[in-house]
Amino acid sequence: MRILGTGSALPKRVVTNDELTQFLDTSDEWIKTRTGISTRRVITTETLEELGAQAAKNALENAGLSANDLDLIICSTVQGDQITPALGCLIQRAIGAKCPAFDLNAACPGFEYALDVAESYIASGRARNILVVSSESVSYLCNWTDRSTCVLFGDGAGAAVVGQGGDYLSSHFVCEGGDEVLRAPMPNGNSPFTQRPVSWSGLYMNGPEVYKFAVAGSIRDIRTVVEQAGITMDEVGHFVLHQANLRIIEAVRTRLKQPKEKFPHNIEHYGNTSSASVPILLDELNRAGALQKGEIVVLSAFGAGLCTGACAIRWSK
Ligand code: COA
Repeated sequence: MRILGTGSALPKRVVTNDELTQFLDTSDEWIKTRTGISTRRVITTETLEELGAQAAKNALENAGLSANDLDLIICSTVQGDQITPALGCLIQRAIGAKCPAFDLNAACPGFEYALDVAESYIASGRARNILVVSSESVSYLCNWTDRSTCVLFGDGAGAAVVGQGGDYLSSHFVCEGGDEVLRAPMPNGNSPFTQRPVSWSGLYMNGPEVYKFAVAGSIRDIRTVVEQAGITMDEVGHFVLHQANLRIIEAVRTRLKQPKEKFPHNIEHYGNTSSASVPILLDELNRAGALQKGEIVVLSAFGAGLCTGACAIRWSK
């Protein structure tokens, strides 16, 4: 597999930390020092279909391909605009593609899981060109009265078009199944037979527990994919990490003894956009010309499941 092009799209509405202080007991200073976040983008009128389709079109253009060239669409999302049809099917229609499409939910590492599935399709010869697109709206899942979670997240979409090649060097995935520390429950329907509690509580997170899992998991996964790729840590050009907390990125970086410039971040502008965060950052780096042809890029993410995923890719675009 090889990355042929990248794209991204963000909602227009910028929400600052100061705006959050108008309805939450929080401060710009607390959010910045604990997370690194200054602003996030939040959906107002946009749909996840529109954002995902725009990111997909940008990635296709960057790859020099059209929607007709796609053999498959894999869409990573925690929750689409609708529970069914799958968001990937709506993005397929919106970009005018004719290929099969499906959704994959692996929470924040969903983009890495989707890339891994794409690699299998390409390696087995069942597809030549695949669109991997993440479109996420955590603002729909959050409880906006809970200051310990809603300040952390944002909405957005990122995509990559992948084709045949030998750039996917290694990958590693871990799942420690459970919902104790991180979950976003389904809203109840109106079944007269339900015995589930009727109140909707929104996204729940035990921040310190997720923090420990994230730092240890990212370090383990990065070491594993680097070793499997047969390279040293110093030979990696960039580490593109899930943008959940600048302190997590810094903790991973310092324990791996790597320089700051190898760990790019944009969390200050967008917050945590779930599985869209890695492809949005990858697209920014690609478009800024920050990735050298031939360098090794390691992607690493963690999230609900609890799941982690990482892969090492040679950048040959
Ligand atoms: N504004 C002001 N104070 C806040 C706050 C906010 N938005 N959110 C929480 N606090 C308070 C807490 O109530 C607590 O107060 P107390 O000491 O009086 O009880 C205090 O700040 C410290 O809370 P704590 O949870 O210990 O802070 P922390 O340093 O662990 O930072 C997180 C909290 C959520 C930023 C951090 O744990 C984290 O980033 N965890 C990982 C989250 C993550 O990556 N999630 C995404 C997974 S995909």
